[in-house]
Parts: sequence; C-alpha cells; structure tokens
Amino acid sequence: MANTEKRGGFGGKMAAILAAAGSAIGLGNIWRFPYITSENGGGAFILIYLGCILFLGLPLLIAEFAVGHNTKKNPIDAFATIKRGWGWLGAMGIISVTLIMGYYFVIAGWTLNYTIASATNAIGGDFGGFFQTFTTGTWMPLLFTYIFILANHFIITGGVQGGIEKASKIMMPLLFAILVALAIYSLWMPEGREALTNVFTPDFSMVTGKSFLAAMGQAFFTLSVGMGAMLIYGSYFKDGTKIAGTAISVVSLDTIVALMAAVIIFSAGVENESGPQLAFVAMPKVFSTMPMGGVWSTLFFLLLGLAALSSTISMHEAVTSYFVEKRGMSRRKGAWVVTIVAIVLASAASLSLGDWSGYTLAGMNFFSLLDNFTSIVMLPLLGILTAIFVGWIWKKEDMRKELTAEGGVDKATYPVIRFLLRYVCPLLVSVVFVFGIIDFIKNL
Ligand code: PHE
Repeated sequence: MANTEKRGGFGGKMAAILAAAGSAIGLGNIWRFPYITSENGGGAFILIYLGCILFLGLPLLIAEFAVGHNTKKNPIDAFATIKRGWGWLGAMGIISVTLIMGYYFVIAGWTLNYTIASATNAIGGDFGGFFQTFTTGTWMPLLFTYIFILANHFIITGGVQGGIEKASKIMMPLLFAILVALAIYSLWMPEGREALTNVFTPDFSMVTGKSFLAAMGQAFFTLSVGMGAMLIYGSYFKDGTKIAGTAISVVSLDTIVALMAAVIIFSAGVENESGPQLAFVAMPKVFSTMPMGGVWSTLFFLLLGLAALSSTISMHEAVTSYFVEKRGMSRRKGAWVVTIVAIVLASAASLSLGDWSGYTLAGMNFFSLLDNFTSIVMLPLLGILTAIFVGWIWKKEDMRKELTAEGGVDKATYPVIRFLLRYVCPLLVSVVFVFGIIDFIKNL
C-alpha cells in the first residue's frame, strides 16, 4: 500500500546547508581525522587529504545531491527513476549506512558517558584504565548507546522540518561555538602553538601507498558520500537550491571543522599518542592538567556528541525513507524498524569489545569488522559506482539540466565537475581501491 503522508522537505537554503553539514561533520572530523593524520605523517597527509576532498569528495557529493534532488525519492527509487535497473546501487548504500550505524552509535554512546563523567569529575586519574573498563564492560556502554539511539529516534520521528531541520538549527551553531572556544583556548597556550607547528610541518617520509587509501577513505567518510545519506538530504532540498553551491559550503565547513579539531587535539601535545583512543584517553588527560579542566573536558565531549548526533540522524533518515517510501510504512513505524536494527547491531558491536571479544573473523571483532568492511570495501566501491552512474549512465542532457538549472556557481563549475566524475573519480578511486584491498589482504 502506498504511503499517503506528504513528503517532507527543508524549509530553505540555510536549513539545507546546516543539515548536510551536520551529516558531514561528525566523529569523522573530531575523533577520526586527528588520529588518522597523526598516524600518517601530519602535514603531508593533510595535503593528500585536501586533494582527495577537492577532486574526489566534492564531485561525488554534488553527484549525490543531484540524484536526490532530481528525483525527490529515497535512495533506491532515486537511482531506479533515473535509470531502470539501477536501484541496487541505492540498496548498497542503505545496507552500508546501516552497518556504519552499528559501530558509530557505540562511539556516540561513549561521548555521552564522557560528557557526564567530565562534568561530574568521575574519570579519575587513570585515563587509560577508565576507557578500558568502560568500553569493555557489558551494561554501561550499552545503556549510553541506547540513550543515544533513542534521542536520535525521536528527532527522526519529528519529521524532516520539525525534527531534522530544527535539531540541526540548534545543534550546529552550538557545535561551532564550542569548537571556536576550544580552539582559542588551545592556541592561547604557548606549548600548544609549538606542538601545532610540529604536526603541521609536512613529513613526506611517513607517506606510503597506504596513506593515499587512508586519505581517500577519510575524505569519503567525512563527507558522508555514497551511502544515501546525502542523497536523501538532496531530495529534501527546496527547488531553487544550488546543488554545487550547497556542496561547496558543506565541504568548506566540514574541512574547517576537521582542521580545527586537529589544531585543538594536537596543540594539547598528544601527537605521539595515536589510534582511536586519542580523543578518549589523551584528551581527558590533558584537560586534567588545565585550569578549569573539567569544564573544557565537558565541552569537548559535548561537541563530539553533538557532531555524532547530527550525523546519525542522516544515516537513520536514509534508511527510514526506504521503509516509508518503498514499504509503505508510516514514518513512526519505519523509524522504529531502523531503530531496532540499529539497537541489535550496536549491541553486538559494543559487546564485541568486551564479553564477545573472543568471536573474531580474520582477526577482527564485530566492531572492527563493521568499521573496516564499510570504510575499505564499501566506501570506495560506492564512490566508483556513483561517479560512473552520474558521469556515464545518466542521460547527459538530463544530468546537465539538473546540475546547471540554478546558474551561478552551479553553471560555472559544471564542466569541471562532469570531467572529474567521468574520468578522475572512477580511475583514481579504482586504483587506490585495488591497492588498498591487496594491502589489506596481505595484512590479514
Ligand atoms: N560524515 C560523518 C562523519 O564524519 C559520518 C557519516 C558517514 C554520516 C556516512 C553519514 C553517512 O562522522
């Protein structure tokens, strides 16, 4: 039975930018980018990363917005409307984003615990121990993850304008305010400035083939491309919204936030500590030595949590739209189905760090499996396919019309974007993908 509820949409251009920037800016920027950067040689890695953002990420984001906006449909129907028989590409995105939710919600739950623990001074002096005990525990991480998933759920059931748009309009300015405050504070300390110069000075000796794969994966992840999340937001853009213009704003905001997060984290002098624990172990340790450290620590984890939430709503929405538009469910029911799936996957991912850590595949627990499979296999693959779809499969005239209708930046950038989508993205991403897979298999 077809669903008769009216299709939602964003109220205006600013709302479109804020919501899409909310999707882009997430744990990828604040938690992942700094540690990936420090593992790959700092400044040199950042240069490669910026190249990937500009030449691969931006055109793919434009492509995804365009497919969504042109069809005003959920990811599966969107691809199938433009070219019959291509719905599977949308389905692959939906499956991937569901898998990402599985581990992303777990880390999001941690941010909640850390915000509360920072505010109540409960972390204590053993930072590594606190992290270890908490994340490998059974009930505590599950509890915080569930709270986070439910908060996310109620934003989704609030609708596109009443839920997603409203939440973005409150959360994004708050996120920027906290980020600026933290950045000013970090740069104010002389040790901070020194640590910073060290990190941003390019060291090309640390760059390997793997750095390219890491940079590309990070660029795709941080821009939320290929997963249907940006496609569904594009489908909610009002007529008259500039596709390339919006994408450029989103990419700029996302990049500024990633660089600022790196500044904040590295100026704390933690560049020698690496890995996923950087934000959760090294940062609280640094904050504890600062005047009013508890306040800064609380703000930092609140920032991380807000960024995570504005990203998870876009993931959830991409999947919910499928149940609503393709399966004819009400928004409430569709959202519950997605929420329950998220709870099941996230529970398994959380437990796989503790009680269930004995169950592994190719040496990886369920949490790492979700992370690695999506970022190493699915993200590049979806990037290649989306570029081919828009560059080669979509009828040239229709595609050109969609991308240039609003004139201005959209029209000016069109020839370059088309060239990047047709040639540069498929080729470059394929090369990096193949080498990445070979390397990955070798290291198993
Ligand atoms: N871009 C988000 C981040 O940087 C993650 C994300 C991936 C969001 C895929 C939506 C879809 O954290």
